[in-house]
Amino acid sequence: MRVSKRVLSYRISEESILLINTLTGALDVVSPDIYHELSKLDTSGHLTIDDFTRERLKRRGYIFDSIENEAQWIQRIKDAHTKTAKRLTFVVCPTYKCNLRCTYCFEGDLTNDSRNSMGIEDVEMIFSAIDKLSDEYKERRRTIELFGGEPLLPANKKIIGLLFKEAQKRSIPVSIVTNGVFVTDYADILERYNDIVGSVQVTIDGPRDIHDLRRKSGSGKGSFDKIRTAIDRLLELRIKVHARTNVDVQNIGHLHELLSFFTAKGWVDSPQFVCNLAPVEDHGCTRAYEFYMPQNLLVAKFYEEFKEHPEMAKVFQLNLFRTLRHINSVLSKSRPVLPLLHYCEANNFEHVVFGPDGYVYACTESMGDRKKAVGEFRPQLKLYEDAVKMWGGRNVFRMKKCRECDIALLCGGGCAYSALVVNGDINEPVCNNARETIFAYLDYIQAELVDKASA
Ligand SMILES: C[S@@+](CC[C@H](N)C(=O)[O-])C[C@H]1O[C@@H](n2cnc3c(N)ncnc32)[C@H](O)[C@@H]1O
Ligand code: SF4
Ligand code: SF4
Repeated sequence: MRVSKRVLSYRISEESILLINTLTGALDVVSPDIYHELSKLDTSGHLTIDDFTRERLKRRGYIFDSIENEAQWIQRIKDAHTKTAKRLTFVVCPTYKCNLRCTYCFEGDLTNDSRNSMGIEDVEMIFSAIDKLSDEYKERRRTIELFGGEPLLPANKKIIGLLFKEAQKRSIPVSIVTNGVFVTDYADILERYNDIVGSVQVTIDGPRDIHDLRRKSGSGKGSFDKIRTAIDRLLELRIKVHARTNVDVQNIGHLHELLSFFTAKGWVDSPQFVCNLAPVEDHGCTRAYEFYMPQNLLVAKFYEEFKEHPEMAKVFQLNLFRTLRHINSVLSKSRPVLPLLHYCEANNFEHVVFGPDGYVYACTESMGDRKKAVGEFRPQLKLYEDAVKMWGGRNVFRMKKCRECDIALLCGGGCAYSALVVNGDINEPVCNNARETIFAYLDYIQAELVDKASA
């Protein structure tokens, strides 16, 4: 008999410990005595507990008769994943160029290179690739995402118009990730193709003085005023606005002021407006950016503020904190949630990124580095089989370190790009404080957990 490696424990009070079975999705509260028995099972080889509890622990997947028995559970989960509906997001970057020089941008010097733009002829090649992939992955839900550099530069207008036209012919929704500065120049296109505009994401990093320190042009001119006008215009057009606030040491203390601004503008009353907080990432682990703040500290600070100002929790969403998404679903949904095998869409070949350099990438962070490309689309689509397998086949059971990890099925194995650049091997994960981040969340909901325990 053995204890499952997939059990996370959290002490909710002196008398009770919450067990989160990340394999089966079961949640159970046990006494410290039972917990102690379980902890020593692997060394002692036997359990000194009554038959009823033993059977229950077995049924709920905390203990297994044999390794094979646990392997059967895992196989069932892999099979269920194979059957779940997947997406196919075509990320199109008309250019790597950008009008801004945001202080933390992961694209760095790539946005300076003036050769990095698509020509009008690329649109045909991209759609021929999209058609081919759509045929191959017929069952997948398709979307197009315009990305960059800055996709809505005035010089890109002809290409963007054509992309919308082709997307409309195929009924593929288009969403846009933009810095917002030139949104109003694109209002005519957004109006004409309103039926297929999914959402527009605009990054707004705080109240005006803070935002303008971070999201500014090469000459230091801030972008806040343009963005405010852009969001007003998008809401007028009834387009979904996903505001995004990238948070770190520099702006974390200003979220309350940002909320007051959203409220004064009336944006929070619009059903079309949501705001997602996101960590400023440093996937290369260079720590060169002076305001970097680890995710667990960000999360702990948000929750501290949410407790003090509950209205913040209603507006600021944490969906972009990948490590929290799954634990949140496990604890809040009444029906079982499938364990997480992959960290992000890049590991399921759900993202196909078309760069202006003619290469195809699995992940937007690897754009511009052709050694990390998974194919090319000029003159026609050619995927590199080994690279597609390497990115698309990455899952927690492939990685030795994750196979041994109790939070693997909540974490998904961390960022693949980070593993590649930091460890030189996509299957050597970088944990990025995943455990501490999950525990910061559990601390926040501790009161609810105590209620669950006493129910
Ligand atoms: C690289 S930008 C390209 C699209 C467009 N220029 C924009 O700013 O939205 C894409 C997204 O990455 C985000 N971003 C850039 N650098 C980041 C970083 N170091 N950590 C987290 N998000 C980052 C931006 O806020 C934006 O949402
Ligand atoms: S606007 Fe986007 S691409 Fe440009 S520097 Fe800022 S984050 Fe990077
Ligand atoms: S990346 Fe680290 S924390 Fe995440 S599953 Fe793998 S070993 Fe665990």
